[in-house]
Amino acid sequence: MNTIKDLDCTIYAGEDSLSLLQGEVARYLAAEPDATCVVLCEQAASKKIFPVLLRACPSLRRSKRYFLPASESRKHIETLLPLWKQWANDKLDRKTLVINLGGGVLCDMGGFAASLFKRGLPFINIPTTLLAMADASAGGKTAVDLGEIKNILGCFNRPRAVFVDPVFLKTLPEREMLSGIAEILKMQCICRTDFSVQRAEKLFTDPEYRNEALLFAIKNKTRITQQDFKEENIRKTLNFGHTFGHAFEALALRKKHPITHGEAVAHGMVCELYLSCRKCGFTRARFDQFANLINTRYGNFTYMEKDIPALLNYMVNDKKNKGRKIYPVLLSTWGECVFDKGISPLVIEKTLCDYLSLNKLSSR
Ligand SMILES: NC(=O)c1ccc[n+]([C@@H]2O[C@H](COP(=O)([O-])OP(=O)(O)OC[C@H]3O[C@@H](n4cnc5c(N)ncnc54)[C@H](O)[C@@H]3O)[C@@H](O)[C@H]2O)c1
Repeated sequence: MNTIKDLDCTIYAGEDSLSLLQGEVARYLAAEPDATCVVLCEQAASKKIFPVLLRACPSLRRSKRYFLPASESRKHIETLLPLWKQWANDKLDRKTLVINLGGGVLCDMGGFAASLFKRGLPFINIPTTLLAMADASAGGKTAVDLGEIKNILGCFNRPRAVFVDPVFLKTLPEREMLSGIAEILKMQCICRTDFSVQRAEKLFTDPEYRNEALLFAIKNKTRITQQDFKEENIRKTLNFGHTFGHAFEALALRKKHPITHGEAVAHGMVCELYLSCRKCGFTRARFDQFANLINTRYGNFTYMEKDIPALLNYMVNDKKNKGRKIYPVLLSTWGECVFDKGISPLVIEKTLCDYLSLNKLSSR
C-alpha cells in the first residue's frame, strides 16, 4: 500500500487501501462534533460498487446515501439540481463529509456538487474505474459540461483523501479498462524520456506492470498538480491528447455513438503527435510506432469530411485557447512537452484531413 501526500489531501493507493476508509471517517467525525457523513454513489454501477464499499467500511451502513445518474451524456448542471434539493431537504451542512464513489464522471460531478453546496463541503473520492484511479480522482479538478462543451463549468478543489483500491477493477468491463490504460499511457508519454512503445505494450498484457504504471501515473499527476494547481504552466501537459480527444468525444456523443474518454484521448494523442512531427521535430518513426499501437488496441476514430467543421468548432471553444489560436500539447520527443505553441485553425483542419487519410491507409 502506498501513501502519497498532495498537500492537504492524502492518496492511499494499492490493494486493501479501502480498509483505511473506516478509520479516516471515524477520525473526521471525532474531530468535528455534530458532523455527519454521506455517500454519493454512481447509479449505473451501484449494485457492483456500493456493496464493496459497505464491506470495507461497515459504519457507512448508517449514513445517508444518494445515487446520481453520473454518465457522460448527463454530465450537466441540470443533473445536479435534484441532488442539491435533496441535500438541502436533508439539511446537509458545511461539516457534512461527502464520499464520492464511482468513475471519473461521478468524481468530477460529486466534487463539483460538494464544492458549490453551501460554498463547500469536504469530500473524499473513491474511484471505481481505472481511468478515475489514474487521473480523475486526484488533482482537484471538478467539473460538468455545458451543452456539448466539455468540463467548462467547474472549480479547483482538492478532496480530503482519495482511496485507490484495485478491488473495484474486478467488475470493470474490458472496454473501460482500455479507457483507463489510455490515460496511463498519456502520463508515460509526457513524463518518461525513456518511453518505449514496446514496454507500453505490457500495459495491455501484464497486470503487474499495469499496477506499477498506475502508481507512476498517480505520483506524477500529484507532482505536476502540486507545482501548478491552477493550470497556468506545467499542468497543461496533462491535456496531451485532449484537444483533439475532447472534440472526438463530443462528436461521437452528438452522433449517438459515444466513445469512452480514454478512447478519445488515445486517438487525440495520435493527432497531437502527428502535429508534433510537423511543428516540433518529433520523429516520424516514433509517431508510426505509436500510431500502430493505438490502431491495434483502439482501432480508428472515423468521421466524415463534412464533420471537420464541427470538430474544429469544438476545438476553437477549448478553454486553453488564447485569441484565435488553438493550444494542443505537442511533444518534441518522449517526455518533453511543448504547451505554449499556438496553432492556427487552418493547420488543425489540415491535421484532421490528414488523420482521415492515415486511417484509410491503416484500414487497408
Ligand atoms: N478531473 C480530472 O482531472 C479528470 C481527469 C481525467 C478524466 N476526467 C473525466 O473523467 C470522465 C471519464 O471517467 P470514466 O472513464 O471513469 O467514465 P465513467 O465515470 O462514465 O465510468 C465508465 C463506466 O464504468 C462504469 N463503472 C464504474 N465503476 C465500475 C466498476 N467498478 N465496475 C463496473 N462498472 C463500473 C460506469 O457505470 C460507466 O458506465 C470524463 O468525464 C473526464 O472528463 C477528469
